[in-house]
Amino acid sequence: MDTVHFAGISGSLRKGSYNTALLHNIADGLLPANTTIEIFPLHDIPLYNADMDKPEAQSRPVAVQLLRKAFEKADAIVIVSPEYNYSIPGLLKNAIDWASRGEDSPLLHKPVAVMGATPGMWGTVRMQLAFHPVFQYLGMKPLYKPEVLIAQAKTKFDTGGTLTDATARKLVGQQLQALRDLALQEKVMRDTHL
Ligand code: FNR
Repeated sequence: MDTVHFAGISGSLRKGSYNTALLHNIADGLLPANTTIEIFPLHDIPLYNADMDKPEAQSRPVAVQLLRKAFEKADAIVIVSPEYNYSIPGLLKNAIDWASRGEDSPLLHKPVAVMGATPGMWGTVRMQLAFHPVFQYLGMKPLYKPEVLIAQAKTKFDTGGTLTDATARKLVGQQLQALRDLALQEKVMRDTHL
């Protein structure tokens, strides 16, 4: 069976972040068989500046070059994020902006899934919706179903950051399986057109 490789990013830089914890739970036991993930922390990504975004001059900041490489190597991207003020956290949108430019953008045709955890009831829904036009503009391949929202996160994670809720674990696993399937479909399409 083909091995599929994911790149995973979190939209929160907070040490105790539920979303970063979720990403680590994915790496530590929620992936489908024959699937790997590289978690790429966004702490070192600077604010977007088009003057530093010239691929021919290798002028992109090192952290940005590494992020683009991580996306390039990946068959699909997993975004795990809270919503900030009913939308995509600025640090996360900023990272996507850095990866989005140029004919060599690693986001073009890339399968992607979004999920989120919130201490409240509906947090992350508006962030997930806000990503739709972004994915459309970038020519990405978003996974639409199943949707994953882990509400009332305090009751679903233990104090060590382990996702203990069986239903949530199952749903996350189902989304990752669907993303794996989408990535394999995309691989076949790409190989057929070569
Ligand atoms: C929030 N939070 C929040 N929650 C929500 O349900 N809808 C929202 O629009 C917002 N907006 C928002 C803006 C900013 C700037 C912050 C810092 C927080 C609350 C947010 O969901 C909560 O802090 C999460 O715990 C953040 O995710 P992590 O850091 O736990 O992954």
